Amino acid sequence: MKRALIPGSFDPITLGHRDLIVRACALYDEVIVAVMNNRDKTYETTIAERAEMARLALADLARVRIVTDGGLLVDLFDKVRADVIVKGVRNEEDRHYEEQMAAWNLAHNKRAETVFLPALPQYENLSSHLVREYARAGQDLTALVSPAVAAYIAKHNLYRI
Ligand code: PNS
Repeated sequence: MKRALIPGSFDPITLGHRDLIVRACALYDEVIVAVMNNRDKTYETTIAERAEMARLALADLARVRIVTDGGLLVDLFDKVRADVIVKGVRNEEDRHYEEQMAAWNLAHNKRAETVFLPALPQYENLSSHLVREYARAGQDLTALVSPAVAAYIAKHNLYRI
């Protein structure tokens, strides 16, 4: 039984995130998606709203569990008895940033190795930031997020300020 931990801000969860999670499901028995806080970011949404959007986007995936946590990833790694952290990498900038985080996590928890999966070309330019910009402008989100996430963003007027 191998359990993967996929952490992120998921503000909001995109089709690129979903693709990474689906691919991780093919590699591991259970995938835990952890909605967490990045100290370098400020959020217009609560962690509960971000988790709800993740639940909506991943409702059809039986081996996926969603958790929220306001602490350190290395502590959550032990708490959920994960075997590996999985991260998606879109470009050089991502790779540089993710490698630094992977090294920090490993230095603080010897078991917490990170595996990188390359983003598919169609998701290379898709980011939560882009989704927020589209939402702010009132544009169609169909190509960027799951239909249920687009509906949730519209219903709750997220990212409109
Ligand atoms: O989607 P993001 O914003 O790139 O995700 C970053 C995240 C939330 C995975 C990262 O900030 C994180 O692991 N936060 C939890 C707190 C922590 O462990 N910080 C130290 C990691 S270097």
